[in-house]
Amino acid sequence: MGKKSVKTELVTIRELDKDAAWIRRAGQILREGGLVAFPTETVYGLGGDALNPRSSQKIYEAKGRPSDNPLIVHICRREDLGTITSHIPEGAVKLAEKFWPGPLTMVLPRSDRVPRETTGGLDTVAVRMPDHKVALALIDAAGGYVAAPSANTSGKPSPTLAKYVMEDMDGRIEMILDGGPVGIGLESTIVDMTSEVPTILRPGYITQEMLEQTLGRVETDRALLSPDSGQPPRAPGMKYRHYAPAGELTVVSGQQDAVVEWINDRLRRRQAEGKRTGVICTEATKDRYLADRVKNAGKRDDEAEIARELYRILREFDDEQVEVIYSEAFDTAGMGQAVMNRLLKAAGYHVENV
Ligand code: TXA
Ligand code: MG
Repeated sequence: MGKKSVKTELVTIRELDKDAAWIRRAGQILREGGLVAFPTETVYGLGGDALNPRSSQKIYEAKGRPSDNPLIVHICRREDLGTITSHIPEGAVKLAEKFWPGPLTMVLPRSDRVPRETTGGLDTVAVRMPDHKVALALIDAAGGYVAAPSANTSGKPSPTLAKYVMEDMDGRIEMILDGGPVGIGLESTIVDMTSEVPTILRPGYITQEMLEQTLGRVETDRALLSPDSGQPPRAPGMKYRHYAPAGELTVVSGQQDAVVEWINDRLRRRQAEGKRTGVICTEATKDRYLADRVKNAGKRDDEAEIARELYRILREFDDEQVEVIYSEAFDTAGMGQAVMNRLLKAAGYHVENV
Protein backbone atom coordinates (compact mmCIF):
# COMPACT_ATOMS: atom_id res chain seq x y z
CA MET A 1 0.00 0.00 0.00
CA GLY A 2 1.28 3.50 -0.85
CA LYS A 3 2.86 5.39 2.01
CA LYS A 4 1.02 8.28 3.59
CA SER A 5 2.73 11.53 2.72
CA VAL A 6 0.32 13.95 1.09
CA LYS A 7 -1.91 16.39 2.92
CA THR A 8 -5.47 15.59 1.83
CA GLU A 9 -7.77 18.56 1.50
CA LEU A 10 -11.50 17.89 1.99
CA VAL A 11 -13.71 20.36 0.11
CA THR A 12 -17.48 20.42 0.30
CA ILE A 13 -19.12 21.45 -2.96
CA ARG A 14 -22.54 22.94 -2.29
CA GLU A 15 -23.22 25.00 -5.40
CA LEU A 16 -21.18 24.62 -8.54
CA ASP A 17 -21.23 28.33 -9.41
CA LYS A 18 -20.20 29.42 -5.96
CA ASP A 19 -17.56 26.71 -5.66
CA ALA A 20 -16.19 27.02 -9.22
CA ALA A 21 -12.81 28.16 -7.88
CA TRP A 22 -12.47 24.84 -6.02
CA ILE A 23 -13.28 22.89 -9.17
CA ARG A 24 -10.63 24.84 -11.06
CA ARG A 25 -8.11 24.14 -8.30
CA ALA A 26 -9.00 20.43 -8.39
CA GLY A 27 -8.64 20.42 -12.18
CA GLN A 28 -5.20 21.97 -11.82
CA ILE A 29 -4.14 19.25 -9.37
CA LEU A 30 -5.17 16.62 -11.94
CA ARG A 31 -3.40 18.41 -14.81
CA GLU A 32 -0.25 18.50 -12.69
CA GLY A 33 -0.39 14.74 -12.15
CA GLY A 34 -2.03 14.67 -8.70
CA LEU A 35 -5.11 12.76 -7.53
CA VAL A 36 -8.58 14.07 -6.63
CA ALA A 37 -11.53 11.97 -5.43
CA PHE A 38 -14.95 13.12 -6.61
CA PRO A 39 -18.62 12.13 -6.49
CA THR A 40 -20.41 10.45 -9.39
CA GLU A 41 -23.98 9.17 -9.55
CA THR A 42 -22.78 5.61 -8.87
CA VAL A 43 -19.96 5.74 -6.28
CA TYR A 44 -17.07 8.10 -5.47
CA GLY A 45 -14.19 7.90 -7.95
CA LEU A 46 -10.44 8.33 -7.43
CA GLY A 47 -9.39 10.56 -10.31
CA GLY A 48 -6.12 11.07 -12.13
CA ASP A 49 -5.25 12.36 -15.62
CA ALA A 50 -6.08 9.38 -17.85
CA LEU A 51 -3.52 10.40 -20.48
CA ASN A 52 -0.65 10.64 -17.97
CA PRO A 53 0.93 7.23 -17.25
CA ARG A 54 2.42 8.46 -13.97
CA SER A 55 -1.05 9.48 -12.71
CA SER A 56 -2.39 6.01 -13.37
CA GLN A 57 0.54 4.50 -11.49
CA LYS A 58 -0.25 6.78 -8.57
CA ILE A 59 -3.87 5.63 -8.60
CA TYR A 60 -2.76 2.00 -8.30
CA GLU A 61 -0.44 2.92 -5.44
CA ALA A 62 -3.09 4.92 -3.55
CA LYS A 63 -5.61 2.07 -3.84
CA GLY A 64 -3.15 -0.75 -3.25
CA ARG A 65 -4.59 -2.19 -6.44
CA PRO A 66 -2.86 -4.63 -8.83
CA SER A 67 -1.78 -2.68 -11.92
CA ASP A 68 -3.15 -5.28 -14.34
CA ASN A 69 -6.65 -4.15 -13.36
CA PRO A 70 -7.60 -1.45 -15.89
CA LEU A 71 -9.16 1.93 -15.02
CA ILE A 72 -12.30 3.53 -16.43
CA VAL A 73 -11.71 6.75 -18.37
CA HIS A 74 -14.33 9.40 -17.57
CA ILE A 75 -15.24 12.03 -20.16
CA CYS A 76 -17.55 15.05 -20.07
CA ARG A 77 -18.51 15.32 -23.78
CA ARG A 78 -19.71 12.50 -26.02
CA GLU A 79 -17.54 13.73 -28.88
CA ASP A 80 -14.37 13.20 -26.81
CA LEU A 81 -14.91 9.45 -27.18
CA GLY A 82 -13.18 9.66 -30.58
CA THR A 83 -9.90 10.85 -29.04
CA ILE A 84 -9.36 7.82 -26.82
CA THR A 85 -10.78 5.06 -29.05
CA SER A 86 -9.60 3.81 -32.44
CA HIS A 87 -13.01 2.66 -33.65
CA ILE A 88 -16.57 3.39 -32.46
CA PRO A 89 -19.11 0.76 -33.53
CA GLU A 90 -22.60 1.99 -34.39
CA GLY A 91 -24.05 0.34 -31.29
CA ALA A 92 -21.72 2.37 -29.09
CA VAL A 93 -22.90 5.61 -30.70
CA LYS A 94 -26.50 4.62 -29.96
CA LEU A 95 -25.74 3.70 -26.36
CA ALA A 96 -23.87 6.97 -25.79
CA GLU A 97 -26.83 8.94 -27.14
CA LYS A 98 -29.31 7.03 -25.02
CA PHE A 99 -27.48 6.48 -21.72
CA TRP A 100 -24.81 9.20 -21.39
CA PRO A 101 -24.36 10.97 -19.15
CA GLY A 102 -25.19 7.95 -17.00
CA PRO A 103 -24.12 4.78 -15.20
CA LEU A 104 -22.93 2.90 -18.29
CA THR A 105 -19.30 2.06 -19.12
CA MET A 106 -18.39 0.84 -22.61
CA VAL A 107 -15.27 -1.16 -23.46
CA LEU A 108 -13.92 -0.07 -26.88
CA PRO A 109 -10.66 -0.36 -28.86
CA ARG A 110 -8.05 1.97 -27.35
CA SER A 111 -6.35 4.76 -29.30
CA ASP A 112 -2.64 5.55 -28.89
CA ARG A 113 -3.53 8.57 -26.77
CA VAL A 114 -4.37 6.29 -23.85
CA PRO A 115 -1.28 4.92 -22.11
CA ARG A 116 -1.16 1.22 -21.29
CA GLU A 117 -0.73 2.12 -17.64
CA THR A 118 -4.34 3.32 -17.72
CA THR A 119 -5.72 0.22 -19.46
CA GLY A 120 -3.75 -2.31 -17.45
CA GLY A 121 -1.84 -3.31 -20.58
CA LEU A 122 -4.99 -3.99 -22.62
CA ASP A 123 -5.68 -2.79 -26.18
CA THR A 124 -9.18 -1.79 -25.14
CA VAL A 125 -10.31 1.11 -22.99
CA ALA A 126 -13.34 1.40 -20.70
CA VAL A 127 -15.12 4.77 -21.03
CA ARG A 128 -18.01 6.45 -19.32
CA MET A 129 -19.60 9.89 -19.03
CA PRO A 130 -20.94 10.22 -15.48
CA ASP A 131 -24.24 11.91 -14.68
CA HIS A 132 -23.07 14.22 -11.91
CA LYS A 133 -22.50 17.96 -12.18
CA VAL A 134 -19.42 18.00 -9.94
CA ALA A 135 -17.85 15.11 -11.86
CA LEU A 136 -18.52 16.69 -15.26
CA ALA A 137 -17.16 20.07 -14.18
CA LEU A 138 -14.04 18.46 -12.72
CA ILE A 139 -13.36 16.38 -15.85
CA ASP A 140 -13.69 19.50 -17.97
CA ALA A 141 -11.35 21.46 -15.67
CA ALA A 142 -8.83 18.59 -15.83
CA GLY A 143 -8.64 18.66 -19.62
CA GLY A 144 -11.33 16.13 -20.47
CA TYR A 145 -10.03 12.65 -19.59
CA VAL A 146 -10.05 11.42 -16.00
CA ALA A 147 -9.14 7.84 -15.09
CA ALA A 148 -11.11 6.87 -12.01
CA PRO A 149 -11.60 3.61 -10.23
CA SER A 150 -13.86 3.58 -7.20
CA ALA A 151 -12.18 5.61 -4.42
CA ASN A 152 -11.81 2.76 -1.92
CA THR A 153 -8.67 0.89 -0.97
CA SER A 154 -8.56 -2.38 -2.89
CA GLY A 155 -10.79 -5.03 -1.30
CA LYS A 156 -13.15 -2.62 0.47
CA PRO A 157 -16.66 -1.69 -0.68
CA SER A 158 -16.83 1.30 -3.03
CA PRO A 159 -17.45 4.56 -1.14
CA THR A 160 -20.96 6.00 -1.26
CA LEU A 161 -20.07 8.93 1.03
CA ALA A 162 -17.06 11.27 1.12
CA LYS A 163 -16.32 10.23 4.71
CA TYR A 164 -15.54 6.70 3.50
CA VAL A 165 -13.18 8.15 0.88
CA MET A 166 -11.46 10.07 3.67
CA GLU A 167 -11.13 6.90 5.76
CA ASP A 168 -9.43 5.08 2.89
CA MET A 169 -7.50 7.87 1.14
CA ASP A 170 -6.44 10.36 3.82
CA GLY A 171 -2.74 11.06 3.30
CA ARG A 172 -2.66 9.35 -0.09
CA ILE A 173 -4.29 11.92 -2.42
CA GLU A 174 -4.32 15.70 -2.75
CA MET A 175 -8.04 16.44 -2.55
CA ILE A 176 -11.50 14.99 -1.93
CA LEU A 177 -14.56 16.77 -3.32
CA ASP A 178 -17.55 16.07 -1.08
CA GLY A 179 -20.77 16.21 -3.10
CA GLY A 180 -22.93 14.44 -0.53
CA PRO A 181 -24.31 10.89 -0.76
CA VAL A 182 -24.32 9.23 -4.20
CA GLY A 183 -27.62 8.47 -5.92
CA ILE A 184 -27.17 4.88 -7.10
CA GLY A 185 -24.71 3.27 -4.71
CA LEU A 186 -23.35 0.49 -6.96
CA GLU A 187 -20.77 0.82 -9.76
CA SER A 188 -21.76 1.38 -13.39
CA THR A 189 -22.83 -1.37 -15.76
CA ILE A 190 -19.88 -2.39 -17.97
CA VAL A 191 -20.63 -3.57 -21.51
CA ASP A 192 -17.96 -4.87 -23.86
CA MET A 193 -18.63 -3.40 -27.31
CA THR A 194 -15.63 -5.13 -28.92
CA SER A 195 -17.17 -8.61 -28.92
CA GLU A 196 -19.44 -9.82 -31.72
CA VAL A 197 -22.42 -9.72 -29.40
CA PRO A 198 -22.20 -6.86 -26.86
CA THR A 199 -21.54 -8.48 -23.49
CA ILE A 200 -22.21 -7.27 -19.96
CA LEU A 201 -19.05 -7.66 -17.88
CA ARG A 202 -20.48 -6.12 -14.70
CA PRO A 203 -24.20 -5.67 -13.96
CA GLY A 204 -25.44 -2.30 -12.71
CA TYR A 205 -28.29 0.19 -12.87
CA ILE A 206 -28.51 -0.12 -16.68
CA THR A 207 -29.87 -3.65 -17.11
CA GLN A 208 -29.54 -6.17 -19.94
CA GLU A 209 -33.16 -5.49 -20.91
CA MET A 210 -32.48 -1.76 -21.21
CA LEU A 211 -29.42 -2.39 -23.41
CA GLU A 212 -31.35 -4.88 -25.57
CA GLN A 213 -33.96 -2.25 -26.34
CA THR A 214 -31.25 -0.24 -28.07
CA LEU A 215 -28.95 -2.96 -29.40
CA GLY A 216 -31.06 -6.05 -29.97
CA ARG A 217 -29.04 -9.01 -28.70
CA VAL A 218 -26.89 -8.57 -25.57
CA GLU A 219 -25.19 -11.27 -23.51
CA THR A 220 -23.95 -11.45 -19.95
CA ASP A 221 -20.42 -12.72 -19.27
CA ARG A 222 -20.90 -16.37 -18.29
CA ALA A 223 -18.34 -16.14 -15.54
CA LEU A 224 -20.69 -13.75 -13.72
CA LEU A 225 -23.65 -16.10 -13.84
CA SER A 226 -21.84 -19.11 -12.43
CA PRO A 227 -18.64 -18.37 -10.53
CA ASP A 228 -17.58 -22.01 -10.86
CA SER A 229 -17.82 -21.94 -14.68
CA GLY A 230 -14.03 -22.29 -14.72
CA GLN A 231 -13.75 -19.24 -16.99
CA PRO A 232 -12.03 -16.07 -15.85
CA PRO A 233 -14.32 -13.01 -15.95
CA ARG A 234 -13.63 -10.67 -18.88
CA ALA A 235 -13.49 -7.56 -16.71
CA PRO A 236 -10.19 -8.21 -14.94
CA GLY A 237 -11.45 -6.49 -11.79
CA MET A 238 -14.30 -8.94 -11.36
CA LYS A 239 -11.85 -11.75 -10.60
CA TYR A 240 -10.54 -10.19 -7.43
CA ARG A 241 -12.14 -10.86 -4.07
CA HIS A 242 -13.98 -7.59 -3.76
CA TYR A 243 -16.42 -5.78 -1.55
CA ALA A 244 -15.73 -8.32 1.19
CA PRO A 245 -16.47 -7.40 4.82
CA ALA A 246 -14.03 -8.58 7.49
CA GLY A 247 -16.78 -10.74 9.02
CA GLU A 248 -17.87 -14.07 7.56
CA LEU A 249 -20.92 -13.37 5.37
CA THR A 250 -23.60 -15.90 4.39
CA VAL A 251 -26.56 -15.18 2.09
CA VAL A 252 -29.73 -17.01 3.10
CA SER A 253 -32.38 -17.70 0.49
CA GLY A 254 -35.90 -19.07 0.93
CA GLN A 255 -39.40 -18.25 2.10
CA GLN A 256 -39.44 -15.32 4.54
CA ASP A 257 -40.46 -17.09 7.78
CA ALA A 258 -38.09 -19.98 7.12
CA VAL A 259 -35.21 -17.56 6.51
CA VAL A 260 -35.87 -15.64 9.75
CA GLU A 261 -36.11 -18.85 11.75
CA TRP A 262 -32.96 -20.35 10.21
CA ILE A 263 -30.94 -17.20 10.75
CA ASN A 264 -32.09 -16.77 14.35
CA ASP A 265 -31.17 -20.38 15.09
CA ARG A 266 -27.65 -19.78 13.74
CA LEU A 267 -27.39 -16.46 15.56
CA ARG A 268 -28.11 -18.15 18.90
CA ARG A 269 -25.35 -20.67 18.29
CA ARG A 270 -22.78 -18.15 17.10
CA GLN A 271 -23.57 -15.78 19.97
CA ALA A 272 -23.12 -18.71 22.38
CA GLU A 273 -19.62 -19.08 20.90
CA GLY A 274 -19.01 -15.44 21.84
CA LYS A 275 -19.21 -14.08 18.29
CA ARG A 276 -20.49 -10.61 17.51
CA THR A 277 -23.28 -11.04 14.96
CA GLY A 278 -25.03 -8.99 12.28
CA VAL A 279 -27.98 -9.33 9.90
CA ILE A 280 -28.86 -7.58 6.63
CA CYS A 281 -32.63 -7.59 6.25
CA THR A 282 -35.56 -5.55 4.98
CA GLU A 283 -38.26 -3.33 6.45
CA ALA A 284 -40.63 -6.31 6.80
CA THR A 285 -38.31 -8.37 8.98
CA LYS A 286 -36.16 -5.83 10.81
CA ASP A 287 -37.77 -6.39 14.22
CA ARG A 288 -37.54 -10.17 14.08
CA TYR A 289 -33.80 -10.83 14.37
CA LEU A 290 -31.69 -11.55 17.45
CA ALA A 291 -28.43 -10.26 15.99
CA ASP A 292 -26.23 -7.75 17.84
CA ARG A 293 -26.46 -5.47 14.80
CA VAL A 294 -29.55 -5.55 12.55
CA LYS A 295 -29.26 -3.48 9.34
CA ASN A 296 -32.38 -2.64 7.40
CA ALA A 297 -31.56 -2.29 3.69
CA GLY A 298 -35.01 -0.91 2.86
CA LYS A 299 -38.21 -2.19 1.35
CA ARG A 300 -37.91 -5.60 -0.30
CA ASP A 301 -39.53 -4.47 -3.56
CA ASP A 302 -37.33 -1.36 -3.83
CA GLU A 303 -34.08 -2.75 -5.27
CA ALA A 304 -32.80 0.78 -5.91
CA GLU A 305 -32.99 1.58 -2.19
CA ILE A 306 -31.23 -1.67 -1.27
CA ALA A 307 -28.51 -0.85 -3.82
CA ARG A 308 -27.97 2.57 -2.20
CA GLU A 309 -27.61 1.08 1.30
CA LEU A 310 -25.57 -2.07 0.67
CA TYR A 311 -22.00 -0.71 0.73
CA ARG A 312 -22.67 1.55 3.71
CA ILE A 313 -23.97 -1.49 5.61
CA LEU A 314 -20.95 -3.62 4.72
CA ARG A 315 -18.61 -0.84 5.88
CA GLU A 316 -20.51 -0.38 9.13
CA PHE A 317 -20.13 -4.06 9.97
CA ASP A 318 -16.37 -3.65 9.63
CA ASP A 319 -16.37 -0.54 11.83
CA GLU A 320 -18.43 -2.39 14.44
CA GLN A 321 -16.16 -5.44 14.25
CA VAL A 322 -19.01 -7.78 13.49
CA GLU A 323 -17.61 -11.29 13.02
CA VAL A 324 -20.53 -13.26 11.60
CA ILE A 325 -23.08 -11.79 9.17
CA TYR A 326 -26.22 -13.28 7.63
CA SER A 327 -28.03 -11.53 4.80
CA GLU A 328 -31.44 -12.18 3.37
CA ALA A 329 -31.26 -12.85 -0.40
CA PHE A 330 -32.87 -10.21 -2.61
CA ASP A 331 -34.95 -10.36 -5.73
CA THR A 332 -32.94 -10.22 -8.97
CA ALA A 333 -35.44 -8.12 -10.95
CA GLY A 334 -34.10 -4.86 -12.43
CA MET A 335 -31.30 -3.49 -10.31
CA GLY A 336 -31.61 -6.52 -8.06
CA GLN A 337 -29.26 -8.43 -10.35
CA ALA A 338 -26.48 -5.96 -9.58
CA VAL A 339 -27.32 -6.05 -5.86
CA MET A 340 -27.13 -9.84 -5.73
CA ASN A 341 -23.94 -9.86 -7.84
CA ARG A 342 -22.17 -7.62 -5.30
CA LEU A 343 -23.68 -9.36 -2.27
CA LEU A 344 -22.70 -12.84 -3.52
CA LYS A 345 -19.16 -11.64 -4.24
CA ALA A 346 -18.97 -10.15 -0.75
CA ALA A 347 -20.09 -13.52 0.61
CA GLY A 348 -17.58 -15.46 -1.49
CA TYR A 349 -20.68 -17.12 -3.04
CA HIS A 350 -21.59 -18.72 0.28
CA VAL A 351 -25.36 -19.26 0.02
CA GLU A 352 -27.73 -21.33 2.18
CA ASN A 353 -31.05 -22.36 0.64
CA VAL A 354 -33.51 -23.00 3.48
O1 TXA B 1 -19.40 3.45 -11.46
C1 TXA B 1 -18.23 3.25 -11.77
O2 TXA B 1 -17.92 2.64 -12.82
C2 TXA B 1 -17.14 3.79 -10.84
C3 TXA B 1 -17.22 5.31 -10.87
C4 TXA B 1 -16.12 5.96 -10.09
O3 TXA B 1 -17.27 5.76 -12.19
N1 TXA B 1 -15.86 3.30 -11.21
C5 TXA B 1 -15.48 2.00 -11.00
O4 TXA B 1 -14.18 1.72 -11.37
O5 TXA B 1 -16.21 1.16 -10.53
P1 TXA B 1 -13.38 0.43 -10.89
O6 TXA B 1 -11.98 0.67 -11.34
O7 TXA B 1 -13.58 0.21 -9.45
O8 TXA B 1 -13.95 -0.73 -11.74
C6 TXA B 1 -13.62 -0.81 -13.10
C7 TXA B 1 -13.91 -2.17 -13.63
C8 TXA B 1 -12.89 -3.21 -13.19
O9 TXA B 1 -13.57 -4.42 -12.88
C9 TXA B 1 -12.02 -3.35 -14.43
O10 TXA B 1 -11.42 -4.61 -14.50
C10 TXA B 1 -13.01 -3.11 -15.54
O11 TXA B 1 -13.82 -2.09 -15.06
N2 TXA B 1 -12.36 -2.64 -16.79
C11 TXA B 1 -11.74 -1.47 -16.98
N3 TXA B 1 -11.22 -1.40 -18.22
C12 TXA B 1 -11.54 -2.55 -18.84
C13 TXA B 1 -11.28 -3.09 -20.14
N4 TXA B 1 -10.59 -2.41 -21.04
N5 TXA B 1 -11.77 -4.32 -20.42
C14 TXA B 1 -12.48 -5.01 -19.50
N6 TXA B 1 -12.75 -4.55 -18.26
C15 TXA B 1 -12.28 -3.35 -17.93
MG1 MG C 1 -13.82 -0.68 -7.65
